[in-house]
Amino acid sequence: MLFVLGVLAAVALVFFIVRWQGQHHPRPMPYWLEGLFLDNPLRRWMFGSRFVLDLAEVAEGERVGEVGSGIGYVSAAIAERVGAGGSVQALDQSARAVRATDRRLLAYKAAHGVARGDATALPWPSGSLDAVVMVAMLGEIPAERRVLALSEVQRVLRPGGRLVVVEYWPDPHFLSQEVLARYLTAARFRVEASRQRFGQYGFRARPHGHGCREGGSGPGLGGSGSLTVYDRVRQLDHADRLTVGC
Ligand SMILES: C[S@@+](CC[C@H](N)C(=O)[O-])C[C@H]1O[C@@H](n2cnc3c(N)ncnc32)[C@H](O)[C@@H]1O
Repeated sequence: MLFVLGVLAAVALVFFIVRWQGQHHPRPMPYWLEGLFLDNPLRRWMFGSRFVLDLAEVAEGERVGEVGSGIGYVSAAIAERVGAGGSVQALDQSARAVRATDRRLLAYKAAHGVARGDATALPWPSGSLDAVVMVAMLGEIPAERRVLALSEVQRVLRPGGRLVVVEYWPDPHFLSQEVLARYLTAARFRVEASRQRFGQYGFRARPHGHGCREGGSGPGLGGSGSLTVYDRVRQLDHADRLTVGC
């Protein structure tokens, strides 16, 4: 009995440390963990791609991007849904993740492109995508660059295009709904739908103004050059403020 309690306490402690680290010093998930966590029966059962695709209302023939594709689990599901007449564009900062996504997408008829790069400088042309998804990835970007990343999404979306952000609670980089809503507002997205299921939620949002990059210069955030976003996690811990520059 004591042994079991000890093991449980050790697991809880490791979870707490990893989570603290993820919230306060975010960094991309290492590739060697992705094979373990991003495609397994538990994920398919609890955090399946259908949740994302349905919220994004991905339809046949559409052009859809995934920022932070990991090993391509969600990108592959998008490719299946958009079919031969559609296309998938995936991006990840990890070369190995890019190769893994590319390999997966080869199995589908949809046109595809997979690029290595950073979420704050997307390689896709302005207005070229119907929808973009970001699944369990926004929190891996350092807090002060998240609005910039969202503004990049705004740039690559066609007018009226949509962004879907999905967060999983067990993820050490999990962003609460409150915090995510503030980032989206700061990047001039309007949340039009949300969906929630045990351990996960998602927002569908559309641009309603000018992002940081609009016009190629200036913050587009009321002319101040920066915007203060209160991060609930930090507020609780440090009564701190984040200044989000664009
Ligand atoms: C937790 S994984 C999720 C992968 C995928 N969205 C999924 O749900 O299966 C997050 C991915 O985002 C990528 N990532 C993190 N920060 C990034 C950044 N600034 N630019 C591009 N990719 C990034 C990581 O390399 C990692 O592959």
